[in-house]
Amino acid sequence: MTENLPEHVARNRQAWDGYAADYVDAGRRCWAAEEPSWGVFGVPEATLHVLPGDLAGKDAVELGCGTGYVSAWLARRGARPVGIDNSPAQLESARGFQAEFGLEFPLHLGNAEQTPFADESFDLGISEYGASIWCDPYRWIPEAARILRPGGQLIYLVNGTILMLCVPDEEEVAAEDRLLRPYFGMHRFEWPDDPSVEFHLGYGDMIRLLRSNGFEVEDMIELRPPPDAVSSHGFVTAEWAQRWPVEEIWKARKR
Ligand SMILES: C[S@@+](CC[C@H](N)C(=O)[O-])C[C@H]1O[C@@H](n2cnc3c(N)ncnc32)[C@H](O)[C@@H]1O
Repeated sequence: MTENLPEHVARNRQAWDGYAADYVDAGRRCWAAEEPSWGVFGVPEATLHVLPGDLAGKDAVELGCGTGYVSAWLARRGARPVGIDNSPAQLESARGFQAEFGLEFPLHLGNAEQTPFADESFDLGISEYGASIWCDPYRWIPEAARILRPGGQLIYLVNGTILMLCVPDEEEVAAEDRLLRPYFGMHRFEWPDDPSVEFHLGYGDMIRLLRSNGFEVEDMIELRPPPDAVSSHGFVTAEWAQRWPVEEIWKARKR
């Protein structure tokens, strides 16, 4: 099966099967959380208003659901989530959390760039560091447009564009306060000591891609930690994130 996957999808499956054990503790914390929070500094939902207020009865798909906590947050707010993820090991964690927290929803193994779902079957597509950075945007955004209903919303969290230009190649070395690589042409990212492949676009390219797939951009929330925040991630300091956006949450609506 792996041999039929696009090269970057096969590489990311192997990578995420390897990383999965390291994401169990964070997954459990997020499953247990009463209030959703966003990004590496955990900015509360009550501050950001990322999620639609009226989730009751809405069909939602989480693209690159990992351990599934975003879907759990949606389910607790009355939505009917479905998760899809490319890593069997991550889905095993998600199934474990479903049993532990007594909350079940369908989970599919698959590539979010080419899903098994019917046209126009969801009201909400969401991705938090899932398809939003691990899938090729020129594949997953058209696929999201296909499976969303007209009027449906797409919400996704990505690393900040400026951050991606300021992080050194070396793993867990914090972003600098200067640009280390070109902005023009940004798309596919690979790191020297890491088998995975990520994707990050510049602002104009992202807006044109959304619009050419029938989306209107509704918002782009730039995440900023609270003043007393401490970073628990090597790739960014709290001081850096106070000055530039460490993450962006895009909201778009299908026309
Ligand atoms: C950082 S996790 C984010 C998911 C979730 N928010 C969490 O933290 O558990 C990234 C997930 O994206 C998944 N992923 C990577 N490439 C994918 C693809 N092509 N299709 C679906 N999921 C993919 C990985 O397997 C991984 O579980």
